[in-house]
Amino acid sequence: MPAMQPVVSGEIDSDSGIDATTSPLGSAGPSITPDTEISPPNSPFTPSEKLNDARQTAKKKLATLTLEEKVSLLTAADFWRTKAIPEKGIPAAKTTDGPNGARGSIFVGGTKAALFPCGISLAATWNKDILYSIGQHLGNETKARSANILLGPTVCLHRHPLGGRNFESFSEDPFLTGKLSAQYIRGLQQKGVAAAIKHFVANEQETERNNMNTVVSERSLRELYLRPFEIAVREASPWAVMSSYNLINGVHADMNHYTITEILRGEWGFDGTVISDWDGINSTVETLKAGCDIEFPFSKKWRFEKALKAVEDGSLTVEDIDRATENALTLITRVKGDDVSEEAAEREDNRAETRELIREAGVQGLTLLKNETSILPIDPRTTKLAIIGPNANRAIAGGGGSASLNPYYTTIPLESIKSALKEAGNQDEVTYAVGCHTNKWLPVASPLCTTRDGTQGVTIDWFAGDKFEGSPVLTQTRYNTDLFLWDSAPVAQVGPQWSAIATTYLTPTSTGKHTLSFMSVGAGKLYVDGKEVMDLWNWTEEGEAMFDGSIDYLIDVEMEAGKAVELKVRMTNELRPISKQKKTGATHKYGGCRIGFKEEDQIDYIQEAVETAKAADVAVLIVGVDAEWESEGYDRQSMDLPTDGVQDRLIEAVLAANPNTVVVNQSGSPVTMPWADKVPTILQAWFQGQEAGNALADVLFGKKNPSGKLPCTFPRRLEDSPAYHNWPGENLEVMYGEGLFIGYRHYERAKIEPLFPFGHGLSYTSFEYGRPSVNTKTLSSEVGSTVDITLAISNIGEVEGAETVQLYVHDEKSRLIRPEKELVAFEKVFLEPGETRHITISLDKRAVGYFDTAINRWIAEEGRFNVLIGASSADIRRTISFDVKKSFNWVF
Ligand code: BGC
Repeated sequence: MPAMQPVVSGEIDSDSGIDATTSPLGSAGPSITPDTEISPPNSPFTPSEKLNDARQTAKKKLATLTLEEKVSLLTAADFWRTKAIPEKGIPAAKTTDGPNGARGSIFVGGTKAALFPCGISLAATWNKDILYSIGQHLGNETKARSANILLGPTVCLHRHPLGGRNFESFSEDPFLTGKLSAQYIRGLQQKGVAAAIKHFVANEQETERNNMNTVVSERSLRELYLRPFEIAVREASPWAVMSSYNLINGVHADMNHYTITEILRGEWGFDGTVISDWDGINSTVETLKAGCDIEFPFSKKWRFEKALKAVEDGSLTVEDIDRATENALTLITRVKGDDVSEEAAEREDNRAETRELIREAGVQGLTLLKNETSILPIDPRTTKLAIIGPNANRAIAGGGGSASLNPYYTTIPLESIKSALKEAGNQDEVTYAVGCHTNKWLPVASPLCTTRDGTQGVTIDWFAGDKFEGSPVLTQTRYNTDLFLWDSAPVAQVGPQWSAIATTYLTPTSTGKHTLSFMSVGAGKLYVDGKEVMDLWNWTEEGEAMFDGSIDYLIDVEMEAGKAVELKVRMTNELRPISKQKKTGATHKYGGCRIGFKEEDQIDYIQEAVETAKAADVAVLIVGVDAEWESEGYDRQSMDLPTDGVQDRLIEAVLAANPNTVVVNQSGSPVTMPWADKVPTILQAWFQGQEAGNALADVLFGKKNPSGKLPCTFPRRLEDSPAYHNWPGENLEVMYGEGLFIGYRHYERAKIEPLFPFGHGLSYTSFEYGRPSVNTKTLSSEVGSTVDITLAISNIGEVEGAETVQLYVHDEKSRLIRPEKELVAFEKVFLEPGETRHITISLDKRAVGYFDTAINRWIAEEGRFNVLIGASSADIRRTISFDVKKSFNWVF
C-alpha cells in the first residue's frame, strides 16, 4: 500500500521519536475546549477581535440609516442575497447551499461545483483535521460561486433512522457532531466565508417540518439537541445561525426568545447573526423580539410595512430594529467589508487538490462493518470479478433537496473498479449485472432527450401571464427534464404569473411498451406526439418530490427503438392543489414539472445476476438507496432497502450463487440488513460525492485501508430504535419521549443489541490498546483543571491503517439518571505496520457534566467517573477512573 497521509492532532509522546504533525488549529489538545474556566453566569464569552471590528463598523453604518433603510435590511433582496444599499456603503452578501458543496444560485442544473461526501460520511471519518480542510475547500468553492455565506453545516441529530436529512447531518451523538462541525466552521471562516450553522433547533424530522411542535425536555434539549451548536459557538464562533422551521415547546424557532436570545446570545455569548430558514418566518413582532435578524428569501409578508407599522404602534421599538439591523450589518461587513462592486458571475473552480481531498475523505469515511473471511481487500491482479447491483453502474453521490448540486463530475463504481483492475494488469473481463431496479420515481428522461437541433435537453418557451398569450417572452434550453423551477423561473422577464411550454424529443434505445412519468408543481399537461396523455391541470394528490409537486403519474407508451417521440408540457405557476390558494392567500407560486422514463424490462434481472456471480471469483454487490429515497422534504417510510424486498432477494440469490460476496451499501442512514449474519463482508459506503466510485475502488483493492467508524447505530429492526413510539408525531406535535436516550444511549440502557454499534468500523489491520495512565486522579473546579489520559496504540497487522480511539465516560453515581456511557473524546491515529504511538487526551469538566434542571446549570457531581476506552461504543478495551472531589457547576 502506498503511504497514507498521517493526520494526527493528539499530543504525541516525544520519547517515541515521532514528529507531531501539528493540528491546523494549533490547539493545545484534541478534546480540551479552549475555555475551561468556571464561567460566570451569562457573561462567559469574549468575541473575537475581528468580529468586534465588524460590529464597530456595523454600528457606524447603522447610524447613517433611516428607519426604512434599516427595515429593508431585515429581509433578503431576492432568493439568496441580503439587501444592498450601495449609496450608504452597504453591499449585498450572497448565500449558497450547503452543506456538502457550494451549489450557487440555481437549484437544479446550476454552475458545476465540487460535491463533497455528505455529512454522515464526513462524520464517519471521525477526523477533525480533515473536517477543517474540507471547511477550507468549501470556502474556496463558495467564493467561486461569488457567494459569501455557506448554508451549513447541518448539525441536527439522528434521532430516528428514518429522518430524511440524516444523511446531511453528522451523527446521533452531540459531541461528535459538535466537534466535527466546529472544525468545518473554522476551516470555512478561515477563508472569510461565513458558516450558517443549521437548523436551530430540535429539527430532527421532515414530516410537517414547517408546523411540527417538538416537545422536548429541558435536559434533552441541553445535553443533546443544543449541544452541537453550543460546542460550535464555543470553539468556532460561527458568524451565522439559521433558525429552523419547527416549533420548540410551543414556540416557532424563529420566534423563540428562549433559545435565540436567552441561550444562544445570553448564555453562550453568540455575537453573530441569526437568519431564518427559507420561508421560515412566522410573525412580525415576536420574531424580531426573539432575535431572528434576517428573513430569507425576499417576501413582503411579515416585515417591511408591517415592521414599520409595528414601530409606529409601539409593538416593536426602534431598539428592536436597531439590534437586528446591527446584526445584519455585522454579517455583511464580516464577509464583504465595504465592497459594493458588482457581483462577479458564478464560476467553476475544479481543483486537483479538492478532488484529492474528497477522495481521501471518502476513503476515511468508508466503514467496514464485517470482513469475516477476509475477502477484502481483493487482489486486483488475479481476481475474476462480478459487479452487480442497482447502484453499481450509477453515480450515487449525494442525498436530495437543498444539499444537492450539479457536480463537476461523478465517478461510477463499475467504471472506477474497471480502471483499477486495468491499472493492475488484470486481463479478466469484469462482468456486470444490474440485478434489479429501485427507482422511487422513474429516472429522469433527459439522457435520451434532445432539443429540435439535436443537443441534449429541453426547450422552454416562456410567456408572460398564465394564459400562453402572445409570443414567447424568451426561450431557454435546459439540460434536465427535472424542471424544478423554485428559484430559476425568469420572473424578471415573465412576471409573477407565467406560463411555459417545454418541448423535447425522446429517442428510446429499444422497442417496447415503455413507461413515461409526469409530475407537476403548478397546473400542467403532458402531450406525446401532439396528443394529450396526462392532464394534471387540477391535480389534488400531493407527492413528495420537489416539495410542492403532485404525485408521479405513469403512462405506458408503445415506442420503437431509435425513433424519436415529441414530448411537450404546457404548464403555469398557478398554485395547486387549488385548496392551497385559499389556505395561503396566494394564487401563484413557483411551478415546474418532472418527466421520467423507463424502457420495458426485457429480462429476469435476478437470474442474470446469479449467472454473473456464479462465473466469478468474487461478487461485489452494490446496493442501497439514492437521492430520491433520502432527501430533504420528507422522511423515509421504511428502513428496508427499496423496493418491496427486491434488493434483499437479490443479495440472498447472489450469496447462494457465490459465497465470496461483498455487499456494499450506499445510504445516508441505517438500512435493515436481514442477510447480515450470512453475508461475510459488508462495507457501508454512504453518499460520497464526486469521488464515490474512486474511493470505493481504492478500498476494495487495498490501495487504501478503510478507517470509517459508524456515527450512528445500525439497529437490527426499526422497532428497536429509540424514537420508534414517538415518530413522526401526531396532530402536528412530536414528543421527544425517549428523552436523553437516543442512539447508543438507548441501546445500552435497554440492553438491545444492535446490528452494528455506534463507533464500530473495521480495518485491514488490527490495533492493540496499551494500558492507560492518568496525570492526576482528580478533576477539580480550578480553572484549567484537566485529567490527561495517556495510552499507547499499536498497529499489530501487516498494513498501515488508522484507528479512532474513543473515550466514553460512565458516571458511577449521580443524582439524576444518566446514560450508561457518553462519548467525551476521540482521536484518530495513523500507524504504519508495527508502529506504536502514545496519545494523550485531556478531559475537562465538560466530560463529566450533565445539565441539572434543579439549578439550570451544568454540574460536575462529586464521585467516581470511569473512562471507557474503546474501538466502538460496544468494544471497550481499557478502563481508567478519576474522581471529582467536590461538586461544582457552570453555565457555559
Ligand atoms: C432548507 C435549508 C436550506 C434552504 C435554502 C430550506 O428549505 O431547510 O437547509 O439552506 O432551504 O435552500
